[in-house]
Amino acid sequence: MHDPNEFEQLVADAEKALADTKTPDRRSRLATEYLGRNGKLADLIRGIKDVDEADRRKAGIAGNAAKARLEQLFDAAKNESAARPAEPVDVTLPGTSYRLGHYHPVTLVLRELEDIFRGLGFSVVDGPEVEDDWHNFEALNMPVDHPARDMQDTFYLAGSEDRRLLPRTHTSGVQIRAMEGAEPPIRIITPGLVYRNEAEDATHSAVFHQLEGLLVDDRVTFADLKGVIASAMRALLGADAKIRFRPSYFPYTEPSAEIDMSSPRIRGGEWLELGGCGMVHPQVLRNVKWDPAKLRGFAFGLGPDRIAMLKYGIEDIRSFFAPDVRLLEQF
Ligand code: DAH
Repeated sequence: MHDPNEFEQLVADAEKALADTKTPDRRSRLATEYLGRNGKLADLIRGIKDVDEADRRKAGIAGNAAKARLEQLFDAAKNESAARPAEPVDVTLPGTSYRLGHYHPVTLVLRELEDIFRGLGFSVVDGPEVEDDWHNFEALNMPVDHPARDMQDTFYLAGSEDRRLLPRTHTSGVQIRAMEGAEPPIRIITPGLVYRNEAEDATHSAVFHQLEGLLVDDRVTFADLKGVIASAMRALLGADAKIRFRPSYFPYTEPSAEIDMSSPRIRGGEWLELGGCGMVHPQVLRNVKWDPAKLRGFAFGLGPDRIAMLKYGIEDIRSFFAPDVRLLEQF
């Protein structure tokens, strides 16, 4: 090096080169070219030792100043390009669209029913899908060897012979769970899956849903049961839906009935089965240590799968339990 002014020249060159540099890539290559360990600045600084004794100190100061200035220049350029997107955004391009999930049609019916019954003052409770013999049968007035157990073909869980655990055959056991250890009055519904050892066809599935209801208080009549079921079904199916009660038999209710419904918009007003119901049997109240002399109640069990089939015109109950997006996408 012969002249300390070479540093000033270097800074001026760098400034010019930077102004012509468009991409972050080129800019970082330029930074290495000027500021790198073997770059132009380092070259000049190495040359200071050859400067005349008299000018050497001045050259050193000029070298430091050039280094600071170059660093400042490249930093500023880098910050500026980071603040501004590399490519302009084309706001007219179509956006990224995501496929949304869908609710299962039975979930839709269950949610609607839950809302309706909540509006009638019922609370929604859950029960276990693996149930014991007491809650599924015995406490519901179906002792071992009671012929009514044959009404439901039951799976038993292997290895639970002592406790006789089973995938629940109905949600009625939750009635017992809700009353045990609680105080009357009670007003609950409980939706969920149940399991039966059944041959499957378009209207029978080994797994299906039920929606159970229970109301116990000091003065409850069959008229209350009819009123609750009728208003719930009209809320769900329309004000022109009709409800019919047919005498039936369940060990845990007396009297018992089967509920039919008919709507002009569903299968031309044909009568269709909705579920079972009745007045809670005194023995059931005794089994949970409630006093049948002071209390009355009603209970019901509805088939939400059936309701969803009718409401949405789905022909085969098995399609609810064999996931297929082509069905689900329609809801
Ligand atoms: N548990 C019955 C079934 O699975 C339905 C049922 C009938 C529930 C009468 C009830 C009831 O609560 O009172 O077929």
